[in-house]
Amino acid sequence: MKNLRAGTTLAVLLAAGGLTAGCTQDFLEATPLGEALGYEHHRVTARKALMASHPRNIRAITAALKENKLADAAKAAQDISTAARRIPLAFRRQTLAGKTTALPAIWQKKADFDQKAMSLATSAAALAVVLRAGDKAGAEGALKTMQGNCGACHRLYRKPPPPRPAAPRG
Ligand code: HEC
Repeated sequence: MKNLRAGTTLAVLLAAGGLTAGCTQDFLEATPLGEALGYEHHRVTARKALMASHPRNIRAITAALKENKLADAAKAAQDISTAARRIPLAFRRQTLAGKTTALPAIWQKKADFDQKAMSLATSAAALAVVLRAGDKAGAEGALKTMQGNCGACHRLYRKPPPPRPAAPRG
């Protein structure tokens, strides 16, 4: 009875052109229709914005290192650490609707995924410490270690970009 009523409600909503209503979000999320409509789930938008902050902060670190502004670089490293701590929550529920490169493996191995987010948080915090100590040479190594943690997660949990055409041989 309850299911029947829910089904009827959904049909009425759709018939009424309620596709844009917030309450049909879970429906779109659960079907290929969302993808067909170019629909983007708010959770996907939020987690992509979180990810997009990383390259921005890495560029800030590289630029600050060049100008010997180690305190500025430390702040950007700290921001990466803070954002990394928010990754587990941003990916709490499986959402694959719309434009996303996230792989379902995230939710099959969520503990490992979360662990990789924490590795990034820890290595970014370590980079900030080295920078605050004024150790520029050490910072370069710590930056590489931190970036290794981006790739370690992407390799397993993010769709690789489409392969580039092979270079002509000979
Ligand atoms: C714990 C796993 C994990 C870590 C660590 C991680 N990423 Fe990601 N990243 C992802 C996933 C999953 C996506 C795909 C998100 C989506 O499309 O829904 C992604 C997407 C991105 C994107 C594309 C965002 C967009 O707009 O589509 C960028 C850029 C990115 N990551 C950069 C980084 C950088 C730089 C680091 C390291 C500082 C990093 N990520 C660390 C899992 C991770």
